Amino acid sequence: MSAIEKTILVTGGAGFIGSHLLRHLVRTYPHYKLINLDLLTYAGNLENVRDIEDAPNYSFLRADITDLDAMRSIFAVYPVDTVIHLAAESHVDRSIDDPLIFVKTNLLGTATLLQAAKEAWDGNMDGKLFYHVSTDEVYGSLGEDGLFTETSPYDPRSPYSASKAGSDQLVRAWGHTYGLPVVLSNCSNNYGPNQFPEKLIPLFINNIRHRKALPVYGKGENVRDWLYVEDHARAIDVILHEGQLGETYNIGGHNEWKNIDLVRLMCRLVDEKLGRAEGSAEALITYVTDRAGHDMRYAIDASKIERELGWRPSLQFEEGLSRTIDWYLENETWLDHVTSGAYQEYYDKMYGQ
Ligand code: NAD
Ligand code: DAU
Repeated sequence: MSAIEKTILVTGGAGFIGSHLLRHLVRTYPHYKLINLDLLTYAGNLENVRDIEDAPNYSFLRADITDLDAMRSIFAVYPVDTVIHLAAESHVDRSIDDPLIFVKTNLLGTATLLQAAKEAWDGNMDGKLFYHVSTDEVYGSLGEDGLFTETSPYDPRSPYSASKAGSDQLVRAWGHTYGLPVVLSNCSNNYGPNQFPEKLIPLFINNIRHRKALPVYGKGENVRDWLYVEDHARAIDVILHEGQLGETYNIGGHNEWKNIDLVRLMCRLVDEKLGRAEGSAEALITYVTDRAGHDMRYAIDASKIERELGWRPSLQFEEGLSRTIDWYLENETWLDHVTSGAYQEYYDKMYGQ
């Protein structure tokens, strides 16, 4: 058995993207030590990492990234040389309803983690890396044309995107001022298994399953650029190993969908898979009051990561969506589990049903 080559602290590893990233890294790099640091908020669920929990190169720590003493003691105990930072409050609607927790977790939490890493690595930054995982929402909203590039100006519009934009700038500030080795990526909308059913795709699959209304905001004309979560995990892997220090990489699927077209496609696929009459899910579509400040269109120019690092999305959308729907229909226990208790209160508050 050869020695541990890297000790990587992954924050937010019990959430949606973090759990896929950990599964990928644990299986691909047996000589890396992967530490999953997660507070297990409503969005974090250890069931998401059940299949890797016994792996010899994996361990879990429950901790809060806003707690400086806790972060310092993790760096004191473990020889962490790499941080991949995903822990965040991530849902736009929740940020509109309760913005302060977004400021606390995404801004204070990121600054706290940066500070703990800087203190631990001061004097010896060689071989160290702080990788910050961020979102395309920092660039604001596009009209009918154009794509977000790495040099698009920041123009965040929701408490969520503003807190992520600020966290990106904090990472750059620690890089610039203290010489912390940093790299950032900004990704478009992810979809796939294990996504909490507050986000469009899993929420609507779950609602169709229960024959509940499908609440489409506004006219359903907003556009999102969807990427399968495992493709995002692969992109993070490539940037981790090949990315240039101080750089930012945009990640996206070249896969723009108007919400209503995506919802109609989901309806058709779920009806087919459940053996229901054609059109029965579409009858559930209900147009509801628009999200406050709803960004119209996101679309990523991913040419930099494709050109410089050779990454490309691997899955066609219809295949990824079909696979995703199959997962939710085959994992009803997971859905029932995460939608019990506090989820009901959230749903009633947001959608009044
Ligand atoms: P998620 O909400 O599914 O998971 C977030 C995780 O962070 C949860 O496990 C939660 O318990 C943990 N967490 C929250 N507060 C914490 C704290 N104070 N201390 C420690 N852990 C805490 O989010 P996700 O969709 O997997 O997103 C992960 C990251 O990727 C976020 O930073 C998000 O901004 C970014 N991102 C998401 C998308 C997307 O489409 N979901 C796209 C681009 C970027
Ligand atoms: O672009 C990346 C971002 O994508 C990530 O940074 C965020 O963490 C992630 O939540 C996601 O943000 P969105 O707001 O785009 O995703 P959401 O799934 O919430 O909504 C997708 C679209 O669907 C958006 O235009 C709003 C709409 N929508 C959403 C919900 C939950 C509805 O019409 N009805 C709904 O009930």
